[in-house]
Amino acid sequence: MKNGTIISIDKLIKQFPVGKSKFTALNGLTLNIERGEFMGLVGPSGSGKTTLLNIIGSLDTPSMGTVTVLDQSISSLSHKQSSRLRNRHIGFIFQTYNLLPVYTVYENVEFALLLQKLSASARKKAVMDALEWVGLTDKIKSKPAMLSGGECQRVAIARSMVKRPDIVLADEPTANLDSKNSHHILQTMKKLNKELNTTFIFATHDEKVMQYLNRKVSLEDGQIVKDEVIENSKN
Ligand SMILES: Nc1ncnc2c1ncn2[C@@H]1O[C@H](COP(=O)(O)OP(=O)(O)O)[C@@H](O)[C@H]1O
Ligand SMILES: [Mg+2]
Repeated sequence: MKNGTIISIDKLIKQFPVGKSKFTALNGLTLNIERGEFMGLVGPSGSGKTTLLNIIGSLDTPSMGTVTVLDQSISSLSHKQSSRLRNRHIGFIFQTYNLLPVYTVYENVEFALLLQKLSASARKKAVMDALEWVGLTDKIKSKPAMLSGGECQRVAIARSMVKRPDIVLADEPTANLDSKNSHHILQTMKKLNKELNTTFIFATHDEKVMQYLNRKVSLEDGQIVKDEVIENSKN
């Protein structure tokens, strides 16, 4: 599968208005991410991890500097272009799962595909493949309230992967899980990373996540203080 730079960040600054002044959340970040990486943004609460993930995911825009994702500059995208980038190429996983409670497991995953023009049979195949990846084909008719936290996060992984995105952004995905479930979902994501060459980017301060990463970029006060390649990570 093709490798190469998938995300390129150059002198990124992000400021938020606070009253009449500005708060600098990201303060001059330069970083390249290659296709197929399984990497983490780590650092204390408030260091800028979520802000950076949101900009990479084109949910927010840089104040200064450039962020290029799949050859598209985030700052220059129209509303329509940024939705298209997200819908086709980027999957999101959140700490709180964000599942729709009235829908079944199957429907929660299918929901991510409804904006795409697929035949009913192609859609069904994609949903069942994604549920198989995460080991939940026996729970397709369950509603989220009937599932454990680990199972809910596995549904969220299936939902993020069903479109076979190039990039998955996972913001503190293990924060609400016990150790066993955390390892299970990390193994699932690592397997998908290897089999589909999906690039995974985590925001985390969980040591369990760090054991699986191939690269760890440490943030402090909106700056990169360390960028380490990790050998022998669990896989
Ligand atoms: N919309 C916003 N308005 C003002 N300040 C913000 C906003 N979003 C984030 N911040 C601030 O930016 C800093 C970085 O936040 P965040 O990226 O959420 O950190 P992390 O995910 O590492 O905990 C924090 O000090 C936070 O309060
Ligand atoms: Mg955060």
